[in-house]
Amino acid sequence: MMATAGSSAAGARVSMRAASGIRASSSSRRAAVVVKAANVNIGDSLAEFLAVATPDTKLRQLMTSMSEATRTIAHKVRTASCGGTACVNSFGDEQLAVDMVADGILFEALKYSHVCSYACSEEVPEPVAMGGSGYSVAFDPLDGSSIVDTNFSVGTIFGVWPGDKLTGITGRDQAAAGMGVYGPRTVFVIAINGFPGTHEFLLQDDGKWLLVKSTEEIGEGKLFAPGNLRAIFDNPEYSKLVSYYLEEQYTLRYTGGMVPDVFQILVKEKGVFTNVTSPSTKAKLRLLFEVAPLALLIENAGGASSCDGLVCRALDVEVTAHEQRTQICYGSKGEVARFEKYMLGESSASLTLSRPSKRPCAERAR
Ligand code: F6P
Repeated sequence: MMATAGSSAAGARVSMRAASGIRASSSSRRAAVVVKAANVNIGDSLAEFLAVATPDTKLRQLMTSMSEATRTIAHKVRTASCGGTACVNSFGDEQLAVDMVADGILFEALKYSHVCSYACSEEVPEPVAMGGSGYSVAFDPLDGSSIVDTNFSVGTIFGVWPGDKLTGITGRDQAAAGMGVYGPRTVFVIAINGFPGTHEFLLQDDGKWLLVKSTEEIGEGKLFAPGNLRAIFDNPEYSKLVSYYLEEQYTLRYTGGMVPDVFQILVKEKGVFTNVTSPSTKAKLRLLFEVAPLALLIENAGGASSCDGLVCRALDVEVTAHEQRTQICYGSKGEVARFEKYMLGESSASLTLSRPSKRPCAERAR
């Protein structure tokens, strides 16, 4: 049976804070690292990490294939030319929008991995047979494509499920999840279900990925990223929550790209990201392609996630349709508890994460 997110695997523990010497030679970088029970070191290659994180060779192959696609997409994003309406790049003989180029690269990588049964994406929501067996993958090839032209960071998000199914599953069933972040640096961030922590790999000039940070705890701290902010006009609970952040002098850090806006919680080990809906602003984030994978990344790192004010953990929501949408909050446990309290309209009640659900999660996420 698959272990739950955040549980330990074989007592493995990884150093929380990277020693900084990742450019050093193999021997010196190992010397700089605090290693606990497991042989996972800052400065390890992705292959070295995966060999420790999972005994499953198919899963290792799948994550390696996704990392290779991420590297190729990083190059395409970096060299795209951006006009008034879209950023394009050449793919074959055609000029294609860069998110479609990324989509094609990921499907190709999954086909050649030979360990993928089905894959679907935000661009191609119906699962396509990949010719392999072992895992199925759902991905958002380039989240934040509307901010590629402004040269903000954008990213790829993916979730990996064992078997052939991409509906009738929950985020908790994921074997792994990951994201590529295309910013001034390119990083590949992954969580393996059953192995502690969420792990960040930095792309080197020679094309290798080296482990630079492992996050196992997310603490409390005043940093907020309020998505779909226009919802405060007809969602009084969200309005009160945002007022709380302002009154308490939280630091605003919001780019409008879900990948960097959530990634900062892992890097800073604090903060909260919200994308809340209202009667006039419906949910736009997709559970399968973006919300569930990011929930595994945050929860494996010691954070929490919630879809609404009724204590609906994002990892427990059943995917009933590929394009199912939901609102979401990610952050430290305290921040997600606060979100739930405000969404319930109980901003003076004491913080709790254990309030019983009133309706089934799947129903509430629709
Ligand atoms: O996936 C949709 C998306 O681009 C996310 O990356 C981002 O968090 C969100 O939209 C931004 O929404 P808004 O502009 O409404 O805050």
